[in-house]
Amino acid sequence: MTVTKAAVAVLGSANMDLVAYAKAAPRLGETVTGESFRTVPGGKGANQAIAAARAGGAVTMIGAVGDDDFGVQLRAALDRSGVDTVRLRTVPGPSGIAQITVDGAGHNAIVVVPGANGTVTALTSQDEAAIGAAGALLLQLELPLAGVLAGARAARERGVRTVLTPAPAQPLPDELLAVTDLLVPNEHEAAALSGEGDPRAAARALLDVVPEVVVTLGAAGCLHAVRGREPLAVPALKAEVVDTTAAGDTFVGALAVALGEGRPADEALRWATAASALSVEQAGASSSMPLRAAVDARAAAGHPVPRRRAARK
Ligand code: RIB
Repeated sequence: MTVTKAAVAVLGSANMDLVAYAKAAPRLGETVTGESFRTVPGGKGANQAIAAARAGGAVTMIGAVGDDDFGVQLRAALDRSGVDTVRLRTVPGPSGIAQITVDGAGHNAIVVVPGANGTVTALTSQDEAAIGAAGALLLQLELPLAGVLAGARAARERGVRTVLTPAPAQPLPDELLAVTDLLVPNEHEAAALSGEGDPRAAARALLDVVPEVVVTLGAAGCLHAVRGREPLAVPALKAEVVDTTAAGDTFVGALAVALGEGRPADEALRWATAASALSVEQAGASSSMPLRAAVDARAAAGHPVPRRRAARK
């Protein structure tokens, strides 16, 4: 069967990840000896772009890198994965970086310094045209809110679906929520945005402000909520966790591709969870993102059927 490629635009960050692996992450004031160190192209925007391209999408990246060596490497990593980087500007100054510690259980702690990402406060007409040519625009919160909002508005005006990952967590302006079609928070972001600790309650509460929500739950899978229906629980696949960095970005990139191909939401969600299961089994951000054939194989290897709870009276 021939599949028409999903056209995906990403407006977001590119960071060089400086990753230290240690048995236990240091507490404040503590120094620990690590086991290894590597630099890996990352940033939530670039990660989602690379994940979507490897999953089979036709992807354009809009954002900025600095005029340093990291900027050259970040652009090259996107190019190697087949992402169109014509709209990725190079600006004077340093590229964004993320300082990441990964502990023995694969969990991470991250400090991001925006660098060039902080210059993306407005869009050019060519950026807007690139958004208009896509079926979906993926957004995160590692660019200035003014830039994110400009992208979401440009997408809405052109009938392009907006998919917002609200990370790093921060209060969201009403204007941004008003032009968000699909919100994809993790459980902590969902709780922070909704004030509800229970993910199912959080998903329901978020439907007051956006029409569709997917709450990612790590090893517990995800919850899909749309107005007028009970949330659908999609279990995660079992995975040998090495490094959870960018698992959420991998999920969103793959989900955008599957939805852009017109697959039903439950099938798209199962496929995206297979992509994120593969990503946690590899170290690093962009270095962990699977190719389409691998996602197909992992998804086909088995997945329990998702369950929608009986509607409440
Ligand atoms: O979501 C993972 C990403 O968050 C890392 O690649 C890092 O750059 C930070 O932005």
